[in-house]
Amino acid sequence: MLDVRKDFPILQVPEAGKRLVYLDTAATAQRPNQVIDAICEYYKNDNANPHRGVYELGARATERTDSARHTVAQFVGADDEEIVFTQNTTESVNLVAYTWGMANINAGDDICVYVAEHHSDMVPWQRVAKRTGARVVYMYPDENGVLTEEEMRRKISRRTKIVCCAMVSNVLGIKIDEKALIERAHSVGAKVLLDCAQSIPHFRHDFHTIGCDFAVLSGHKLYGPMGIGVLYGKKALLDAMEPFLSGGDMIGIVTEDGATWAETPRKFEAGTRNVEGEVGLEAAIKYLDSLGWENIEAHEREIVDYCLSGMKKIPHIEIYGNAPERYGVISFNVEDVHPHDVASILDADGVCVRAGHHCAEPLMRRLGIGRCSRASFGIYNTKEDVDAFLDSLGKIREFMGYGS
Ligand SMILES: Cc1ncc(COP(=O)(O)O)c(C=O)c1O
Repeated sequence: MLDVRKDFPILQVPEAGKRLVYLDTAATAQRPNQVIDAICEYYKNDNANPHRGVYELGARATERTDSARHTVAQFVGADDEEIVFTQNTTESVNLVAYTWGMANINAGDDICVYVAEHHSDMVPWQRVAKRTGARVVYMYPDENGVLTEEEMRRKISRRTKIVCCAMVSNVLGIKIDEKALIERAHSVGAKVLLDCAQSIPHFRHDFHTIGCDFAVLSGHKLYGPMGIGVLYGKKALLDAMEPFLSGGDMIGIVTEDGATWAETPRKFEAGTRNVEGEVGLEAAIKYLDSLGWENIEAHEREIVDYCLSGMKKIPHIEIYGNAPERYGVISFNVEDVHPHDVASILDADGVCVRAGHHCAEPLMRRLGIGRCSRASFGIYNTKEDVDAFLDSLGKIREFMGYGS
């Protein structure tokens, strides 16, 4: 088992006098000292506006952002030029939707989206469909919460221009069969955008091997800072795309009549960069690499399995999704109790879980529920955390006056 809780300063501070049990890592991870210190060290030693100053300090700031891009590229199995820094997953999806989408999707085309998507992967495509006259076609999970190959074949057709799918759902925690999805999409000439926001913290990805056309992720779910995200795109696709935002730092030449663009990926990175975010993300990746991905996977599997088996022993709990492997999240309801009450009662015991629709309202409707609670796990969670959660969870119905 990993023993990294000591690296996370926020976990050392008790919540209302109790040990902080943070089970909301799918919303945002906590940051280790290694990330916090790297950001401070950057500001103390290397801060300047990159790609501008010709002085030594400016060159150092440029080196820091180049180094971060290289580290991210190595981490996800891509080339440096295929990595675009954005604010977050949401901005990355919007970038693809409004540049590639608006240029390549027309009336009569289909955009295929998994109904278990986060709103970030769904709403931009609904808007593109409205503006172009295309249709959004939804793929649905089966009764276990699994996206089957049969459903992929049914929904992805010769009309499909792009398929947008989360590698791991932020509600069900179930991984899609990305190989089958990409094979099917490419066989009909469609592109694939994989949302890796919930998968990237749990196992290694190699985008070249996976073969997706675009992939998106957020730094803050990977133990890095907020405000930094990544868009991966195949170089030829990025080269052919128009910029999303325009202004400083993304141009080639500007005249009174117009402008040309910088090379990929800088043509997508308008304005002053979030260098502290890039530096922090690089530090997070190096920290996770130093722990070893096999160790991370084994640790999280043990914690999630331990929690699941404990939850199954508590009566009146419904757990959503049922697949042999579950990555990082367990969504559930306690019979007769509103999820906000569940989260508040757990909070009184120092346990943080998320309650609501989890930015996945169409999936909630599909599951026949309005909302649910979600416990999510990271590298710092321990069996002691799970025991505290289960102990508190087991008392909720009684607390609400329903008997156990
Ligand atoms: C699967 C998935 N996609 C996208 C997002 C949006 O991420 P961000 O808010 O960092 O843009 C989330 C956030 O929870 C998510 O879980």
